[in-house]
Amino acid sequence: MCGIIGYTGFREAKNVLIESLKRLDYRGYDSAGIGVIDNQLQVFKEVGEIPNLEKEITVVKGTFGVGHTRWATHGKVSKENAHPQLSCNKKIALVHNGIIENFKKLRDDLEKKGHNFSSQTDTEVIVHLIDEEYKGNLEEAIFSALKKIQGSYAIVVVCEDEPGKIVGARKESPLVIGVGDNENFLASDIPAFLKYTNRVIYLDDGELCVITKNSTKVFDVNKIEVSKKEELIDWDFKDAEKSGFPHFMLKEIYDQPDTIHQTLRGRVSGIEQSIDFPENVGKLLDRNLDSINIVACGTSFYAGLLGKYLIEKLTDIPVFVDLSSEYRYFGTRNKASLVIAVTQSGETADTLAALKEAKNSDCRTLVITNVIGSTATRVADGYILMQSGPEIGVAATKTFTSQIIVLFLIALKIAVLKNKLGSDELYKYILNLKELPRQIREILERSDGIKNIANYIKDANSVFFIGRGINYPLSLEGALKLKEISYVHAEGFAAGELKHGPFALLTENTPVIAITTKDATYDKIIANIGEVKARGPKVIAIADDNDTEIDKHADFVLRFPSNSRLLSCFSITVILQLLAYHVANLRGCPIDKPRNLAKSVTVE
Ligand code: F6R
Repeated sequence: MCGIIGYTGFREAKNVLIESLKRLDYRGYDSAGIGVIDNQLQVFKEVGEIPNLEKEITVVKGTFGVGHTRWATHGKVSKENAHPQLSCNKKIALVHNGIIENFKKLRDDLEKKGHNFSSQTDTEVIVHLIDEEYKGNLEEAIFSALKKIQGSYAIVVVCEDEPGKIVGARKESPLVIGVGDNENFLASDIPAFLKYTNRVIYLDDGELCVITKNSTKVFDVNKIEVSKKEELIDWDFKDAEKSGFPHFMLKEIYDQPDTIHQTLRGRVSGIEQSIDFPENVGKLLDRNLDSINIVACGTSFYAGLLGKYLIEKLTDIPVFVDLSSEYRYFGTRNKASLVIAVTQSGETADTLAALKEAKNSDCRTLVITNVIGSTATRVADGYILMQSGPEIGVAATKTFTSQIIVLFLIALKIAVLKNKLGSDELYKYILNLKELPRQIREILERSDGIKNIANYIKDANSVFFIGRGINYPLSLEGALKLKEISYVHAEGFAAGELKHGPFALLTENTPVIAITTKDATYDKIIANIGEVKARGPKVIAIADDNDTEIDKHADFVLRFPSNSRLLSCFSITVILQLLAYHVANLRGCPIDKPRNLAKSVTVE
């Protein structure tokens, strides 16, 4: 889960690499390093965040080099284990994201041949293998070395003897070329070079590329040059900046009125009263569809659970939701089912594996993702983009609401195809969807009230989130958001489940957040609030502006503007995000980079 970058061009490579690493540090951040060649290879590495590394760097003038932010998988956090890793003669420098499964055997063999290792990383075997094969041509040596490697990798390599040349290769880890004028980039993620260019070429699994400042060449596993399409990314560089907010997470929460609008853009027509997706999705969402299987991890999994409620409610077709890490080994593959993978990054290893399993079992596959050209978009039969722009904060926020929008649009589309929804009803939903950005703005204006509640719960031993129906996955997501960024223990429950065990944990210092909507189970959740209060904890309800009943039952109430019942999930989500943010901020936590977590989980 590391971030990698290579640069070759006319600028001072040191500056470009450091700048790029700052944009990549959400991928991993226990240590970082750069290697720059100016006749001779010079390497700087440091434990901790990028500013620590910056302090270490002395004058270095070269215009090509590589950089890396590390999130340890093999070997402790140390300078030696930081990348770049070097060949014995210190002429070849390599950065790597992924895991080399057969590294122990390779290391033993290389040591027998006289190679001296200076780290405990799996990565170091790759650079020694390349060194072993090197006969004056870097790409040839890399082609030969990669044949011996089992595992996943994206690598970027430079050699002192081949000025201006960078070679990269990928298998099951992302790598993308940034095409500039008189300069080129190679990185694990687009934000790394977005400041310099928005022209990209995605590498596919098994491909190797050779870039210089004026050329980009891509080869397949058989060393045949392949012609690749250049794509334009319409993300604004400023989208990857904090725009004056203290944290990316807060900026991304505040982006939501706009990102929801972006996700709806081009898909929803109030005039024609229709929902439209790109052409290749049409063949996947047809009227004969009789079941759906959603696979995802973490927050995307909770979006999937929400999607189940929405799709089942509107279409009557059954939806099964599996964690990707379970589905890939144990999931029931039903050929008649459409498998929908929900993945912000499009690179989550377990979700990619689940998707491949589904394809191998002849299921039709669709991906909901935020990253065009990501591996998931190339594996699946079709994809729908969230259109939320880059998300930098480790905790998913704006991409979660965009995922729910897409799932909601899928539900509406299928409902129309199956004649379950008349045009008047569809029109009402479309109008409600278009109202969402305004409602989210209203919630954002209520942030201070949410902060007061955050102040109340910030020292709790544990916080429970409860809800029924569509509010149950929201409870799970509310708890995940709180625990991952504030380190306050939190759990989400279906409200009816408390009495089956969790009640035992309730004390006066366990505030309970009860998500309530005026639906068929409203009386039930009111009863649950009563049961909770009888055991001592204070209850904070999240309720509709029009709910006059709730004040009689809850100790505090956070309100959201009234909307169609199914669409209240968006406002509630934003309240939960702000609550988690304020608690984490009041506790002084590193909000954008919670400990032990990384943005893209590209290893199993
Ligand atoms: C939590 C969070 C993670 C991701 C999960 C899946 O805030 O962001 O739980 O949702 O790692 O990532 P994607 O959606 O990229 O597959």
